[in-house]
Amino acid sequence: MEEIKTIGVVGAGQMGSGIAQLAAVHGFDVWLLDSDPNALGRATEVISNSIQRLISKGQLPQAVGTDAPKSIHCTTRLEDFSAADFVIEAIAESEAVKKKIFSEVDKITKSSAILASNTSSISITRLASATSRPHKVSELGIVLLLCSDISTLSLLVLLISIWFISFEMYVHGCCLTWRDDFLVNCLPAGICGVTSDKLYLILQVIGMHFMNPPPIMKLVEIIRGADTSDTTFNATKSLAERFGKTTVCSQDYSGFIVNRILMPMINEAFFTLYTGVATKEDIDEGMKLGTNQPMGPLELADFIGLDVCLSILRVLHAGLGDMKYAPCPLLVQYVDAGRLGRKSGIGVYDYRRAPTIAKQLTRL
Ligand SMILES: NC(=O)c1ccc[n+]([C@@H]2O[C@H](COP(=O)([O-])OP(=O)(O)OC[C@H]3O[C@@H](n4cnc5c(N)ncnc54)[C@H](O)[C@@H]3O)[C@@H](O)[C@H]2O)c1
Repeated sequence: MEEIKTIGVVGAGQMGSGIAQLAAVHGFDVWLLDSDPNALGRATEVISNSIQRLISKGQLPQAVGTDAPKSIHCTTRLEDFSAADFVIEAIAESEAVKKKIFSEVDKITKSSAILASNTSSISITRLASATSRPHKVSELGIVLLLCSDISTLSLLVLLISIWFISFEMYVHGCCLTWRDDFLVNCLPAGICGVTSDKLYLILQVIGMHFMNPPPIMKLVEIIRGADTSDTTFNATKSLAERFGKTTVCSQDYSGFIVNRILMPMINEAFFTLYTGVATKEDIDEGMKLGTNQPMGPLELADFIGLDVCLSILRVLHAGLGDMKYAPCPLLVQYVDAGRLGRKSGIGVYDYRRAPTIAKQLTRL
């Protein structure tokens, strides 16, 4: 596994910008890509404000804060990811959209690069299927039989063969292992042979689920796809630890750990509001003070993004096949109306300066 120096982040929204910031302050060279140039402009501003806030609170050294933004290169061209050792995708929570970007990133990046998704709920195994990364790699053995009467020409052929095989293996991201127990598959001169021993599945696709906001929240949930290799898992875990995060590991089932538990709670808060049990303020206050949470579930949904919550619930519903995950009609209606939460200025609550613009629903 090559040392990770350059990180590519796809998507410069809430999560992508936070992940890019985190990588930059920890000394990585970062390429931040978005299809929308305005999103890149907003991300640059958000990152710079966030870094300044951390410096003023004494949570980030001034020098690191000054240098970090310089190591983030914004781009709209996927070709700029050719040098990336590790790519983290953070675009819309849609399987079709993510699969498309995974297949494109797969073609651009070097074969040794690890491709991670910050998905909240979508199957890593299915995202991996859009790539050529679950590729088979032969373990190659180089057999040396040095004859006592080896000629200079034979020795030269031997050395060229070894160089060629090593180069090919390097280009294809394989490890060169030397063993002395291969069966000999000799060339007529009896000096060199190559034999294929085992086939490995090297799956370099993994889930790396950051919490919001990535620079602050301590957890990274790592999700292993059906064939994610140990090498990929270990590299991802140690990268998260270099970011100062604690990791937990989940198997690849819809919603993983955190959202499997969190989203039904948020959905139930919407049903509580929808059926008129209580006002939004009382639901949030009740859950904050009654269960010692820093934010109420509706406030948290606005912070995450109502569109993101709805997409996750749909993945849970389809993936686990249980009606209990069916999204509340009120959540669906808010998203249809463009009320996406903080990022759009209005969700369950109104965050705009002029609240009169907000269209009030009659009942809620
Ligand atoms: N919001 C959260 O609290 C949260 C937490 C953890 C994980 N996530 C996950 O992170 C991902 C991103 O969520 P977000 O809240 O940052 O969304 P967001 O809407 O804030 O940002 C998404 C960005 O991706 C860009 N984009 C969309 N399609 C693209 C494409 N094909 N190529 C390049 N850029 C593209 C958009 O322009 C946008 O800037 C989702 O999978 C979400 O489930 C979100």
